[in-house]
Formats: sequence, structure tokens, C-alpha cells
Amino acid sequence: MLKTSDSALRNSICAKLTEARARTLLLVAPLSDDDLRIQHDPLMSPILWDLGHIAHFEELWLTRNLYGDIEFSEMPGLYNPFEHPRATRAALPLPTLHALMRTAAEIRTDTLATLESVDLQSSHSLLAGGFVYNMVLQHEYQHNETILQTLQLKTGDPYRAPRAVAAPAHGSDTFDRMIRVSGGDYPIGTDDRSAAYDNERPQHVIPVRAFEIDAAPVSNAAYARFIADGGYERPEIWSDDGRAWLADSGARAPKYWDSSTDGWMTRVMDVVAPIAPNHPVCHVCYHEADAYARWAGKRLPTEQEWEVAASWDPATSSNRRFPWGDEDPNPLYANVDQLFFGTTPVGAFEQNVSPLGCYGMIGDVWEWTSSDFVGYPGFIAYPYPEYSEAFFGAEYKVLRGGSWATRPGAIRNTFRNWDYPIRRQIFSGFRCARDV
Ligand code: AVJ
Ligand code: FE
Repeated sequence: MLKTSDSALRNSICAKLTEARARTLLLVAPLSDDDLRIQHDPLMSPILWDLGHIAHFEELWLTRNLYGDIEFSEMPGLYNPFEHPRATRAALPLPTLHALMRTAAEIRTDTLATLESVDLQSSHSLLAGGFVYNMVLQHEYQHNETILQTLQLKTGDPYRAPRAVAAPAHGSDTFDRMIRVSGGDYPIGTDDRSAAYDNERPQHVIPVRAFEIDAAPVSNAAYARFIADGGYERPEIWSDDGRAWLADSGARAPKYWDSSTDGWMTRVMDVVAPIAPNHPVCHVCYHEADAYARWAGKRLPTEQEWEVAASWDPATSSNRRFPWGDEDPNPLYANVDQLFFGTTPVGAFEQNVSPLGCYGMIGDVWEWTSSDFVGYPGFIAYPYPEYSEAFFGAEYKVLRGGSWATRPGAIRNTFRNWDYPIRRQIFSGFRCARDV
């Protein structure tokens, strides 16, 4: 017999799967067939590929891998990201949107039938707590953000974003300060096995030296001062790799910034406007963040320092799941979930403050850290090494905190994102730290 909690979990999984798909389809609804099929940038997939990949990832994990003895198999040909690097995906024989939607609906029928028959009380790690369902949901959420990066890159006829909610216009301008964090032993990561990714586990205690960290992310105004002060023309504040990137890219401002007689302008999808001085800077790469920090007499935080600043509650000597507590993010707490289509003023969300006093750690912009993406001590790849482990190493830097384009189910204080230090099509900013 089914336990009540079991059927409640089934219902909530079913509702979340439906909601995730509705959001994906809402995002792509305004696009022409051509815009779905062409490759808008070599860095990104054709959006049709993302859609097929989302559906077939679901088929793999929520049907095939749950039948019988639970054996893990590989993603099939066309939608296997390792067989087909992003830059080659436009040449693939992708189906029409209509055919793809039919396949996705068939897969969903099988998924829901399988959901009825699996044992969610099973001790199998794939099923316990609904883990594999949460993994597939987060996969779709993450590809929503990927699709939005593509739509922001798209030139020509700009994407007309569905904007449902008016963004808060006011923040606070009292954030030009740093928070002091005492040295000590702090827990990092989590042992959660229902939603967290393998790379967030296991929780481990590490010694952290006393440090200071910016109370808020670096703003557009502050970044514009860095540019005006010759930040891009001072080789001494750039690392060797940073200088190489600077020479190669010719960059002199964040991606999507353009100088005009009225000052810096920027574009978010179909909206071109002067940069908002009190918003966090967005679309900078690691090297730009690193150079800015040196210019400011600071450095980037390690990902562990970032996590302590976002999570540690001295009153209870424990970590919070989110800066404000344990409740899931929603548009009252933070700029997440693709509702405002852009950044919002620093400090616009009164409750988005950690116990130690850091604002805006969740939402608005992903924050670069100085850490390489590596496994925590005792890391065990699960359920497949290609999610995290395949990317471990010094090539990638860790980003934390999620952006305005991140869905609430795909962000928490322990969540680790990663990308190459030269990438800036992602919704990325930063805050600085320093030793004390
Ligand atoms: C965690 C954002 C780096 O997009 O490569 C999507 C997420 N993994 N499908 C990525 C992901 C597999 C991943 N990032
Ligand atoms: Fe994927």
C-alpha cells in the first residue's frame, strides 16, 4: 500500500515536471522556426537541440534507467553533448519543433506511468527522496538559463521577452562596505541526497582565516569607475591569462556594453538603455573580475568564503540553505526565476541578506570565485561522472549564487556552477574580498 507521504511526493513531482515544461515552452514560444534551428553563436546550441536534449535526458533517467534492475545507460546519439560539441550541433539532423514536441509528450507519458510504479521509499539512491526526479527537473531548469544566454546573444531581430512582473526600481546605496568574518572552522557543502548534486557533497569542515567580503556585488557604477580609471589599460592588475584574454578579445568593457555620447549603454534582450548605476555589473568574465579586485586593493573570495558569508548563522552555529533561511527562493526574496528579465538594484530585496550581513548572494548575477572546480574531500561521482567529475580541474572556475535567469529549484547556498574564466555570455558578476 502507498504511504500518504509517498503519494504527496508523487503529486509534487508530477506538478513540478508539468511546471518546468510550461516554463520552457513559454520561453521559446515567441521564436520563429528559423530562430529555433540556427546556431546563434558557436558557444551555444541551436535551441531545438536544447529542447530535444531536455526531453531525451528525461527519457534516459526517468524511464529507461528506472526499469528493471536499474542500470545506467548513456544518452542516445543526437543529444549526447559529448558526442557533439556545441559548435557542431547546427549540422545535426534536428527534427521540426512539431515532431520534437510530439516526442517530448510521448516521453512525458512514459515518465508519468513510470512514476506511478516506482518505489519512492526505496533505499536505492536514485529513487530515495525523489533524487532522480529532482535531478531531471534541475537539468531542465539549467537548460532554461542556457537558452536565455543564447537568446541574449542572438543578433538581428531581438528576442521579445515575456515580462510578467515589474522589477523593483529602488535599492539602497549603503552597500559600499565590507563584512568582517571571523576565522574558524566552518562546514562547507551538504550531505543532502534528495536534491543536491554530487559536487556539493560531502559536507566537510575546513579552517577559514578571518576575511572581509563586500556586503553587495560590485555595481555598474563602481565598474564604470574602474573602466574610467584605465582598468583595461593597466597590465599590472591583470594576470598572465587575463592579459592574454585582453589582447585576444580586445575587450574594454563588459559584454553588451556600448559607449555612447550619453555614457555607457547596455542591452538586455530587446531593451537598450543606459547602464543602471545601482545594479550589479553583469556579463564580465573571471579575468575582468580578478583585475577589478586587484585595482580595488582586494581579491576574489574563495568559494568557501562565499559559502560561509551566505550560509553561516552564528546564532545557531549552523548553515542556512539560503541567506534568509530555509524557504525556497521566490520573487519576494530574490531576483530569480526569469521574472524581471534583467538585474535589479543592489539591496532591492530587503530579506535577501545573510546572517553575517551580505546582500544579494542569491539571484541577480552569478558570482565568480577564485576557486578551481574540484571535488570536495571524499567526493563520489553520482549518478554519472559526466555531470561534475568530467569537468574537475584548474580549467574551470566556480561561480555561486544564481542569476535572474536561474529557476529557484536550481539554486541554493551550496550550489556550485562552473565555467571557463574567459566566458561572459553567462549572467555573471562578482563581489570582492580581502584578508584581514
Ligand atoms: C552546471 C551550468 C555548467 O550547462 O554545462 C546541463 C549544467 N549539465 N546539462 C552546463 C548542465 C548538463 C552545466 N553547468
Ligand atoms: Fe544537459
